[in-house]
Amino acid sequence: MQERKENSKQSLTLRNGVSMPLLGFGVLQLDYIDLYLIHQPYSDYYGAWRTLEKLYKDGKVRAIGVSNFSPERLTDLCLNSEVPPMVNQVELHPFYHQDDALRIMKELGVQPQAWAPLCEGLKNIFSNKILEKTGMKYGKTAAQTALRWNIDRGVSVVTRSSVPEHMGEDQDIWDFSLTEAELSAIDQLDLGYSEILDYGNPCIARMFLKKRGIQEEKDDRVIL
Ligand SMILES: NC(=O)c1ccc[n+]([C@@H]2O[C@H](COP(=O)([O-])OP(=O)(O)OC[C@H]3O[C@@H](n4cnc5c(N)ncnc54)[C@H](OP(=O)(O)O)[C@@H]3O)[C@@H](O)[C@H]2O)c1
Repeated sequence: MQERKENSKQSLTLRNGVSMPLLGFGVLQLDYIDLYLIHQPYSDYYGAWRTLEKLYKDGKVRAIGVSNFSPERLTDLCLNSEVPPMVNQVELHPFYHQDDALRIMKELGVQPQAWAPLCEGLKNIFSNKILEKTGMKYGKTAAQTALRWNIDRGVSVVTRSSVPEHMGEDQDIWDFSLTEAELSAIDQLDLGYSEILDYGNPCIARMFLKKRGIQEEKDDRVIL
């Protein structure tokens, strides 16, 4: 991906004291990073964004973006930044479509990217009848059909596997595409909410800030 470089440790401390580890430069010893995302819209993410803008302008990061930003937070960041986010990585799979959020990302020119594109293996996704039947026509598995479904609606996917055969399968999705009718058939799988993580729940903010050691200094009433 990139040329490795010796002794190029860097880290940044934001104005509110939150440290932003630049693992790509420090530990991995890279000259640049392809894509750097802010994980969640919590704490001083505007401070973090200004830092990312600088890294982007300095050529240290090829693309900058965010993750788990709601349409409203994403719109605000786009309207209040010199370099708007290029990517928003959110939960997107056949059981959670987020069509309205996708529409806003497209209007803003932000590339949607899916985390949990295989629903983290939940809900028997790998033996789902609609996905299996749709994929069968192309000689593809339910997993490949689920990944291709996101690609066909303009979403890039980041999947995860520890099994070499699965890794190969997940990459072998570029020789077919779904018809309008097949895409519509998958519409009926949408639950309209996440069964993995509900970012609309304020407890999620408390949980993540506590994990990062920020919240308990101010408030130890963490309700989960
Ligand atoms: N931005 C965020 O907030 C956020 C949140 C969660 C995850 N992520 C990222 O999203 C990426 C995707 O990971 P994920 O955890 O969300 O899950 P995922 O990709 O939806 O699902 C991963 C699971 O699917 C299985 N799998 C993968 N390919 C398969 C195949 N072809 N056939 C059968 N099983 C298959 C894997 O098991 P095997 O190992 O057995 O193949 C693993 O258990 C990761 O890079 C993760 O770090 C980001």
